[in-house]
Amino acid sequence: MPLEILGRMYEKANREYYAIGQFNFSNLEFLQAAVEAAEEMKSPVIVALSTGAIKYGGIKNLVALTRTMAEQVSVPVALHLDHGEKIDDIKRCVDAGFTSVMIDGSHHSLDENIALTRQAAEYAHGKGITVEAELGRLGGIEDDINVDERDARLTDPDEAVRFVKESGCDALAVAVGTSHGAYKFKGENRIDFDRIKTIKSRLGIPLVLHGASSVDAQSVAQINEYGGKIEGAKGLDAESYARAIKNGINKVNIDTDLRLKWTAVLRKIMHDKPGEFDPRKFLGPARDAVKEIIKEKMKLLGSAGKA
Ligand code: G3H
Ligand code: 13P
Ligand code: ZN
Repeated sequence: MPLEILGRMYEKANREYYAIGQFNFSNLEFLQAAVEAAEEMKSPVIVALSTGAIKYGGIKNLVALTRTMAEQVSVPVALHLDHGEKIDDIKRCVDAGFTSVMIDGSHHSLDENIALTRQAAEYAHGKGITVEAELGRLGGIEDDINVDERDARLTDPDEAVRFVKESGCDALAVAVGTSHGAYKFKGENRIDFDRIKTIKSRLGIPLVLHGASSVDAQSVAQINEYGGKIEGAKGLDAESYARAIKNGINKVNIDTDLRLKWTAVLRKIMHDKPGEFDPRKFLGPARDAVKEIIKEKMKLLGSAGKA
């Protein structure tokens, strides 16, 4: 199929309370893993590029690869800009053929975030492209944080109503206690599921969960066994996905889990096969392992079978 507009995928996900996975990539293999997983699971899929990934792979190369791969499968594939911070990022990606863009003004004041997001929405909507915005600041909820400090960081439902009305965004990334990377929680997983429910009931639009990797203990153990050093890493469990989705999350962003699995496989093969120097012998198995992780996520998110 040609690349799909993300807004079209959201309609069914929002109605039927499941989430579509966003899988970040910056190379051929992660993209193949995501698109092949989607085809095999009969799942819609969102593949995403950060501005760093675009710089690494080249926007024309990455868009052409994604388009070509999407055209060879029967399931919908959306190409999304992850955490665009400037209006120029948005214009560049919309013009290059992305079917969804994120404008992340979460580090600005509410008024500035609204103004920036509105500008992005006007441009993207003019070309039929979906817009995600972010309100609140991502970060784990530590045990010793007090309620006022916590509320100052997490997405405020009243502000969210005003934000969406005035900015015109189509989907909202909410801060509910998750954070990017491999070190999300010090103690117990603390996610404010009630906040997701409240915001969903007030807005009705698709909500997005960033920083949603599970930080698989097996991958971390394998990395450490074969020379790596990753300590105190912790992410979301399967139960958290289910609760977040039940309360209204329709898009779940995953990058760290893919990177960890990739690194674990590469470290082991390089250790086990010291005479090997054909890159395909390393990258192929790593790609297959990433694909399996993505298939598992599609089952957990409820998107499997929905394409
Ligand atoms: O949210 C951030 C994503 O994991 C992308 O990370 O900027 O290193 O490409 P990156
Ligand atoms: P993770 O670091 O948990 O994979 O989150 C990725 C993300 O939110 C990309 O926008
Ligand atoms: Zn993110």
